[in-house]
Order: sequence, then structure tokens, then C-alpha cells
Amino acid sequence: MQPQAIAWVDGRSDGRPAVLRLLDQTRLPHTQEYLDVTTVADLVDAVQRLAVRGAPALGGVGALGVVIAMDEAARSGWSPAQRDEAIAAVRTARPTAVNLAWGVDEVLPHLPQGRDAVLAAAVDVVRADGEANRELSRLGAKWLRARVGVDRPLRVLTHCNTGVLATTSWGTALGIVRQLAAERAIELVYVDETRPLLQGARLTAWELAQEQIPYVVQADGAAASTILRGLVDAVLIGADRIARSGDTANKIGSVGLALAAREAGIPFVVAAPWSTVDLATADGSQIHIEMRDGAEVCTFLGTQVCPPGAVGFNPAFDVTPARLIDAVVTERGVVCPNRGEDLSTLAEQAEKSAAG
Ligand code: MRU
Repeated sequence: MQPQAIAWVDGRSDGRPAVLRLLDQTRLPHTQEYLDVTTVADLVDAVQRLAVRGAPALGGVGALGVVIAMDEAARSGWSPAQRDEAIAAVRTARPTAVNLAWGVDEVLPHLPQGRDAVLAAAVDVVRADGEANRELSRLGAKWLRARVGVDRPLRVLTHCNTGVLATTSWGTALGIVRQLAAERAIELVYVDETRPLLQGARLTAWELAQEQIPYVVQADGAAASTILRGLVDAVLIGADRIARSGDTANKIGSVGLALAAREAGIPFVVAAPWSTVDLATADGSQIHIEMRDGAEVCTFLGTQVCPPGAVGFNPAFDVTPARLIDAVVTERGVVCPNRGEDLSTLAEQAEKSAAG
């Protein structure tokens, strides 16, 4: 059983404050340690250090972060304005993954009903993410097997970490891999190491090892060549924000994989829950890309590798244009941006089915 990235521990009956328990991902794979967060300052710090990370997990953090802010406000005697400022700090702790702000916005309408109503809504956000991941994984596996159309297990390449650790449970792109593995349809997973913070080498490899899914870790620079040598049947990535056009922000390095996949004629698939789709953003040019400290690039596992004074350039994400994306898989269905389909198609379908 894989550990959860985030969990709510409501300890008020024994007088202790409720905590948001985070598996500290900066310590993995060697140390499995939890952070019990009770203050907004600690929560924002954990998000910015990537102790908790991955867009869908950040959705849960945003929603439960509102309860942390309400509890801290009650303990510390904050005014409503101070509480709202703290909630805004959670909402904006990282800019690219839309899920963080989305999670906050999902529960805010419950604020007038009080803390327990907000908590119930936040728990629902977490539950719904797990369900969405399982559904999109089933849809993605089915789509991919039909699209690749070979009668043998698949060789897939993935980037960053999109598994249990990046979500509330199961995973997105890695969820599709898990689904395929359950169907005995995975031969090998090429795991990009994902410099500079090694989410692939540290986290994805750890998850695949636990699941006993065959994998190899490669340097990010090896990926295009692996694809062009014909060793890969499909590239599967997650997303931090998908614009209405299908343009997709994801971990830096993703767009290069899309270009290589197009050249090789293999499918490039983006998998994400609907909470990662941002219909208010028309296209990728409007997505704010987080710039992180250049020191992360100039060091390796905390050791300086560049000459003194070297300046690191460290965009955390890039944007893959819709025309290079064969499929965006969400729990609502699959759209093919490279064929001109945009995400509003799925929104309209969902509205129609909700209306009965
Ligand atoms: O900087 P990170 O580790 O939060 O970046 C995460 C990614 O880019 C993931 O691919 C994305 O959030 C999707 S997670 C299912």
C-alpha cells in the first residue's frame, strides 16, 4: 500500500489542534518522514520547498489549507481580514498549478457555514480527486491501447512524478501506467530523472519499485534519443494547468518530449483531473510560469557543481502547445487538441449531463 501525500488528522477531541499531515517529499526515497502542519506559514513553506507537490495534491492542500487558516485564526484571535490574508497566502504559494487556487476556491463558499462545513467540503475535494484519477486512468489506458494498436505490452516514457505522491491517491499519468500494468500491458517505463529536483529519479522510481512495475531511470538529456531510436510507444505526462486551447503547462522538459514524440510519430498524452483544466485561460501564453531559485540548478543534491558566481536559470515548468498533444485525458473524457478539439467540448458535455 502506497503512503498518502496528504492526510487530515482531526485531533481536537484530545485538545491538540487538527493537523494537515504531509509526507515530506524532499526526504524521499531514503527517509519516510511526515510533517504535521498547523500554521499557514508552515504550510506555505512546505508548498514552496516542494515537501508537498504535484498539481492534484496541491488542490487538496488548498482546500484543507483554508481549514488550517480558520483554526489558526481562532487560536490566535485573528480578525476576519487577517484570516483572509492567510487564505490568500495559501492560494498563491505557487503560481503555475491551477489546482492550488482551485482547491481554495472550491471550499470558500462554505466559509459562512463555519469550520466544519469547510472541512467537509475540503474532504470532499480530496475524495473526488482520487475518484477522478481512477476514472481518467481507465479511460487513458483504453485510449492508448487502441491508439498504439499493438498486441504486446507497451514501452512508455514519463517525466516528473504524477503518481500517488503528486495526487491524493492513485495518480494521473502514472495512474494510467498502473492501470496498464494491472492489465499486464506494460513492458517498461522510461523515467526521466527530472532535473533539478529529481522528482522522476527520487519519487517516480520509488513508486514504480513499490508497485513492481519494470522501469529504468534516464537523464533528461537521453529522452529525445530514446524516443527517436524507436524504444518508446507513447509519452505520458501530467499537467499543472491546461488552458482552454489544450496548451499545457507541466514540468520543465515536457515540451521537448512532445517535439520528439511528434518527430517519431508516437502519441504524446497529457493526463489530469478536470480540476487542472483552466477554461478561464484561453491559451498557454497566459500561463504564469514559476521561476525558482537558480541555486537549484547550480547544485546537485545540495552540493555546488558550478563555478562560484555561476547564475542558474530555473523555470520550473514549460508550456506544450496544443498542436503537439495527441490526447488530453480527464475523468470527463478524452480530447485531441492536435485535431483542433478544445477543452470546452468536455465542459459543455458535462453541463448537459448535469442538466439531465
Ligand atoms: O514542481 P512539481 O514537482 O510540483 O511539478 C509537478 C509536475 O510538473 C507534475 O507533472 C504535475 O503537477 C502533474 S502531477 C499529477
